[in-house]
Amino acid sequence: MGWTDHRVIVAGVANEQSIAWHVARDLIEKGAQVHITYQQKFKSRVLQLLRSAPVQPAGLHRCDVTSEEEVAEMFAAVGGPVHALVHSIAYAPFENFSRPIDANPAADFHTTMEISAWSLLHLCRAARPYFAPDASVVAMTYLGAQRVVPGYRMMGVAKAALEAVVRELAAELGPDGVRVNAISAGPLKTLAAMAIPDFDTMLDHYARVAPMRRCVEPDDVAALVAFLGSAGARNITGQTLFVDAGYSILGT
Ligand SMILES: NC(=O)c1ccc[n+]([C@@H]2O[C@H](COP(=O)([O-])OP(=O)(O)OC[C@H]3O[C@@H](n4cnc5c(N)ncnc54)[C@H](O)[C@@H]3O)[C@@H](O)[C@H]2O)c1
Repeated sequence: MGWTDHRVIVAGVANEQSIAWHVARDLIEKGAQVHITYQQKFKSRVLQLLRSAPVQPAGLHRCDVTSEEEVAEMFAAVGGPVHALVHSIAYAPFENFSRPIDANPAADFHTTMEISAWSLLHLCRAARPYFAPDASVVAMTYLGAQRVVPGYRMMGVAKAALEAVVRELAAELGPDGVRVNAISAGPLKTLAAMAIPDFDTMLDHYARVAPMRRCVEPDDVAALVAFLGSAGARNITGQTLFVDAGYSILGT
């Protein structure tokens, strides 16, 4: 499908580095009516970003994915048909990235899973009445879902759940024409990434050893989101697609 005038929701803009912002900007430039969502604590940073942004979204919506009300209000305000829904959201309590995984209290596990994995189910349930017949849903994941990446810990568990949620949703929503995929991006320097210990070392490592000998750019992710919403991707669903300069194929 072409993107002109297509209604798109991109959830998870915190600042100009956010993957969600790069995705939103690309789709706006392609002609889509893009609605972005933010968490209240990032409102001023998002407004600041938009003041100097070269493109503007069709709508800006406060939406905490743990709030039934905010999710329902966001969809009611956006309306339908929704041609693409991008989930670019994750959270784990900061200590998760430094303490042993079995030292985490149940409450932290629940929070991490609720925001990082269950929220995709929540958004899709709320989106059902609004989905266009050929809608594309995309969620952001990371290699830590499938391999043990130092420091990723409980977020790896949540991303594994997210990838399983993507497969289950793909099976559930496929008969309605809706496709659901995950993009597994290589490391990108964003706010969320700053929680991961030695992140800069990880970037250096990717650039040195990934088959393409370089790091991923946010626009690589945006390009794949755009492709997944196109006619060329009409039979791609339930997949985790890697955009990582080939890093995930390596063994040692
Ligand atoms: N940066 C990377 O290296 C990398 C690599 C692979 C995948 N990802 C994934 O990409 C996605 C976006 O992360 P990012 O790197 O752009 O960082 P980011 O910090 O810019 O984005 C994370 C977003 O999650 C949102 N969020 C957290 N809790 C929320 C809640 N309760 N309700 C609504 N929103 C909430 C934050 O507001 C923020 O906008 C995440 O799923 C992340 O795991 C990131």
